[in-house]
Amino acid sequence: MRELSEIDTVGVVGAGTMGNGIAQVAAMNGYDVVMRDIEGQYVENGLESIEHSLDRLVSSEKLSQADADAARDRITGTTALADLADADLVVEAVIEELDSKQDVFEDLDGITDDGVVLATNTSTLSVTSIAKVTDRPEQVVGLHFMNPVPVMEGVEVVVAEKTAQETVEFAHDFAEDLGKTTWESDDKPGFVVNRVLMPWINEGIRSLDEGLATKEDIDRGLKLGTNVPMGPLELADHIGLDIVLDASETLHEELGDRYKPAYLLKRKVEAGDLGKKTGKGFYDYEE
Ligand code: CAA
Repeated sequence: MRELSEIDTVGVVGAGTMGNGIAQVAAMNGYDVVMRDIEGQYVENGLESIEHSLDRLVSSEKLSQADADAARDRITGTTALADLADADLVVEAVIEELDSKQDVFEDLDGITDDGVVLATNTSTLSVTSIAKVTDRPEQVVGLHFMNPVPVMEGVEVVVAEKTAQETVEFAHDFAEDLGKTTWESDDKPGFVVNRVLMPWINEGIRSLDEGLATKEDIDRGLKLGTNVPMGPLELADHIGLDIVLDASETLHEELGDRYKPAYLLKRKVEAGDLGKKTGKGFYDYEE
């Protein structure tokens, strides 16, 4: 298996919010990155988000212009998974569907060298189920980044049934090399963060639906009462209501009724109000 010191090129599969964030942070920390998505437009969108995020970091003087330029130059976008053949490590961040992730892992297993660790950014799916389609389940691990990746310090390392201890250590070391702080979770639905966060968000939504308080007061109460940066409704809009519903449904299926998604969450998703990304969720957002 590759040592951290042997990692030059990181492959990232998926150029969406999480994929482009992971690609950006890897590039900012000196890795060459090949970021792949299935359509050219998705790749372009991902590169634009990176550009925008690097600009924010430069304007708030957290990054020099020269370092931002260097990071940008280290990232190559592609639609061909075969372009990840020379990657020394791959992090997958495609849609949260088991079939899609298994297809990607099956392909990556054939394309990449034997010593390459294949990590998944899944937030709720079984890493063991993803790993089982490869011939290297001991080198498959969960690396669950938080949104927005360039800002959030934490990364969850998920240990699947067959993940080898050296892969676990490698995952911690890689995330720490990106300036992140890690913790470890067993491969159980939702891992640490979403197992606790999703019921919290759903309870906030149910409280609104049941008329306990206004949305502003629910968020204000949780923010000022428990010192978190966002209340449950704001945070749901930030994550994306479709993502919250999806994660909640997986938890509900696997862990039972205490994870039942809030009715109002389903209704908002059905209406296409998905939060910040569509301009409307629990709150309205300017374009
Ligand atoms: N790229 C670069 N910089 C960014 C950024 C991005 N994508 N997003 C925010 N920033 C920077 C801003 O430029 C700003 O910098 P300065 O203070 O230097 O000006 C700073 O971060 C704060 O941003 P804002 O002023 O825009 O807004 P804010 O103070 O409300 O912070 C936030 C935004 C960082 C998102 C903060 O509200 C927060 O931490 N919220 C909680 C987010 C959270 O809990 N994320 C995890 C969700 S769970 C998850 O991801 C797991 C899952 O599977 C669902």
